[in-house]
Amino acid sequence: MKIVYLAAAAAVWSVCAFTKRSEAPTNSVLTPLEAVSVSEKAVMTSKDDAVKRGQYLVTIMGCADCHAPKKMTAQGPAPDMDRFLSGHNSAQPLGTFDKNILKTGEWVVFNGQSTAFAGPWGMSFAANLTPDETGIGNWSFEQFNTAMRKGKFKGLENSRPLMPPMPWFNYINIADEDMRAIFAYLKSIKPVSNVVPSYIPPAP
Ligand code: HEC
Repeated sequence: MKIVYLAAAAAVWSVCAFTKRSEAPTNSVLTPLEAVSVSEKAVMTSKDDAVKRGQYLVTIMGCADCHAPKKMTAQGPAPDMDRFLSGHNSAQPLGTFDKNILKTGEWVVFNGQSTAFAGPWGMSFAANLTPDETGIGNWSFEQFNTAMRKGKFKGLENSRPLMPPMPWFNYINIADEDMRAIFAYLKSIKPVSNVVPSYIPPAP
């Protein structure tokens, strides 16, 4: 009788313990193995969250306005999703325009893709922000942070300043977490091989 009672009590206890654990896994005592899988899950979730947040920020901050080649649609030019954020397409002929427009220093000229820009600063080309090696594939977060907050080409402290219309000065005060989220998202998109033409200083 006593043995049966003990067995029943043990069964009740184990059911309770099981229920408790499955209801509140974070509060229960975890074996090292379980602890590893929970922390891995947390890392994965926060990485997914960062990528989502980064996508949201890149969208509302309009990076694609300049960094994505465009396709004509019924609503006007829209980002070409096959070449999303891959910068000025170097395979496409640049086309010509009357350079006299620039001589007054009062006008700025955008190409039809809104990826090449001529003005008093010379001519600049939107950079490839995809994780290809011709884009930001080999960049560290520190490089990205320096490019975005200090306006330095390739994110290197002693490189040339980034030219208009890259509005890097608007990004100086982005929260560190958001900057990391933007970088995580850019590292997650489709890599596109495209060596963007070099910046051309203004004619003397
Ligand atoms: C109005 C147009 C415009 C917008 C909007 C814009 N950029 Fe740029 N960006 C450029 C241009 C043009 C360059 C190249 C400047 C140069 O070569 O001097 C550039 C350069 C960069 C660079 C440096 C690349 C390198 O190789 O050094 C990074 C990083 C960058 N942009 C990220 C972003 C991100 C992220 C956003 C959105 C939050 C953004 N840009 C929004 C036009 C823009």
